[in-house]
Amino acid sequence: MNIPDKNKKFPLDHYDRLCFLKNVVKNPNIIVGDYTYYDDFESVDNFEKNVKYLFDFVGDKLIIGKFCMIASDVTFIMNGANHLTDSVSTYPFAIFGHDWSDAMEGKSYPIKGDTQIGNDVWIGYGATIMPGVTVGDGAIIATKSVVTKDVPPYAIVGGNPAKEIKKRFSDSKIEQLLKISWWDWPIEKVTKHVQQLTDGDVEAIMI
Ligand SMILES: CC(C)(COP(=O)(O)OP(=O)(O)OC[C@H]1O[C@@H](n2cnc3c(N)ncnc32)[C@H](O)[C@@H]1OP(=O)(O)O)[C@@H](O)C(=O)NCCC(=O)NCCS
Repeated sequence: MNIPDKNKKFPLDHYDRLCFLKNVVKNPNIIVGDYTYYDDFESVDNFEKNVKYLFDFVGDKLIIGKFCMIASDVTFIMNGANHLTDSVSTYPFAIFGHDWSDAMEGKSYPIKGDTQIGNDVWIGYGATIMPGVTVGDGAIIATKSVVTKDVPPYAIVGGNPAKEIKKRFSDSKIEQLLKISWWDWPIEKVTKHVQQLTDGDVEAIMI
């Protein structure tokens, strides 16, 4: 078998604007699965620049599964972006110190948890994913969407705020697909079934 090398930074010959992302990301709070790729019009280094407000002292993580497709200008807003929203003012007095330094004593900024992107998720050009969102396996995020809420597996969402446009398959087929979780197969088995994986006949891969 002749299988693309998941440990290669740039899997396409003579093309350095598409990378297998796990080989490019340096921040330990960004975790990326095998074969997930990122394509950028300028430079793949833009990926980490577009993970905004990811601060060590907050401790949240961006976790992305296997075989995801992430387009240029996709932005992840992390929890470090959050200000107080239920206070009289949202102004972060404490960070400027002096007599303002104890303004946050006994209080904390809202933390909505890790951002989790499943497997086989396609995130379209310029989409924005807000803090703490979970995107299910097989989902599609439409171009320029702003995703503020969790996205169920195999749903297509779009708009600002992103709403469900449709499901990719019937509920029973989605259940079957989640059960087989093809992305966890040995890569030799994935390779053997690439024809079926790129067909619409879900039954054909229920083997
Ligand atoms: C989400 C997407 C896959 C849907 O494609 P599709 O299945 O052919 O769907 P359609 O074009 O028939 O659109 C279905 C509905 O979604 C809406 N829609 C499509 N794209 C949308 C978007 N970006 N934001 C909001 N709504 C969108 C359409 O208006 C339509 O609404 P309606 O049902 O009320 O008429 C496609 O629109 C998209 O965004 N692809 C991503 C492309 C991309 O960014 N690629 C990056 C390089 S990999």
